[in-house]
Amino acid sequence: MRIVFFDAHSYEQDPFNAANKERNHQITYLSTRLTRDTVRLAQGAEAVCCFVNDTLDRTVLENLASQGIRLIALRCAGFNNLDLAAAVELGINVVRVPAYSPHAVAEHAVALLLCLNRKIHRASARVREGNFSLEGLVGFDLYGKTVGIVGTGRIGHCFAAIMRGFGCEVLAFDPTPDVDIANGVRYVDFDVLLTQADIISLHAPLTPQTHHMFNRGAFERMKRGAILLNTSRGGLVDTAALIKSLKSGHVGAVGLDVYEREAGIFFEDWSSAGLQDDLLARLLSFPNVLVTGHQAFLTDTALTNIAQTTFENIDAFQTGAPLVNAITPQSVLPPRV
Ligand code: NAI
Repeated sequence: MRIVFFDAHSYEQDPFNAANKERNHQITYLSTRLTRDTVRLAQGAEAVCCFVNDTLDRTVLENLASQGIRLIALRCAGFNNLDLAAAVELGINVVRVPAYSPHAVAEHAVALLLCLNRKIHRASARVREGNFSLEGLVGFDLYGKTVGIVGTGRIGHCFAAIMRGFGCEVLAFDPTPDVDIANGVRYVDFDVLLTQADIISLHAPLTPQTHHMFNRGAFERMKRGAILLNTSRGGLVDTAALIKSLKSGHVGAVGLDVYEREAGIFFEDWSSAGLQDDLLARLLSFPNVLVTGHQAFLTDTALTNIAQTTFENIDAFQTGAPLVNAITPQSVLPPRV
């Protein structure tokens, strides 16, 4: 098939080319994101392959449909950027990679936590300058602390297991609790999680229900000094409210791999032009904030699995086999079995 990849980066091409070796799909990699302005670049393709910050709103979908495209292969798990109702209406199939390495994302959340708590980012910068002072670098033992997990799906599940390994007490909030979750994880109300957790990690999808779940009220309910980690989707956190809470010193530290206005900023090099986004720039001014640019998924294991599953999805569409990873209205809140 002729497939146009939008927002394609060099680190993805090797695993995709390797997975395509025996398939021989005709791939065009475009570094540009899919938007209303770039959708015409899909011309001639039979399918498009998209990532987290590509725009899949009704206008873009109508344009893709008018070009004869009947398959969108998302090479990611989340699909909050998709107007699913429009896709269904237009007869466009959308497939995704529901799980490629939940460990990669959970481990990145732990990396953010360890770095923030022990101030590794600050210590490393100091030592490089020849400054070996320990002032301001005091952390705390994770052992015995209470961790709150919002969303206990695949990634939340892995994160819970790792934190249990550190000797933490793990609380969880999820409207669909997981009966198979590791021993020692206790489901509680959202408010209990907010008020009792020393560390809160977000692993829920972005939906109308989770949008700005962490707003001013939630920050006020959190324990003073608690650490917030978000490796799910930026929209779960009201960034302006977060900044206020950081300024007041209520939130102790924040590790973010995602940001609600990341589209058009993340995955690009702005080091010469400077950041135009004032909220993000303010966030980055806090010493107790650590931001990575949506890289939690970025391991060789995950990239290989993403490429493999994406092509399996495309092959299934091509051969008329069932699309096991299709996004349907039922995918919005998957029942747990
Ligand atoms: P999953 O679908 O396995 O689990 C999501 C869980 O969130 C489910 O258990 C669901 O019941 C729960 N949930 C839904 N609404 C909720 C609410 N209102 N409050 C609390 N929990 C709620 O998804 P998975 O694979 O664990 O991924 C989680 C999220 O991580 C994805 O939706 C995606 O946005 C993000 N992600 C981020 C990556 C990165 O590189 N930063 C990579 C992969 C995923």
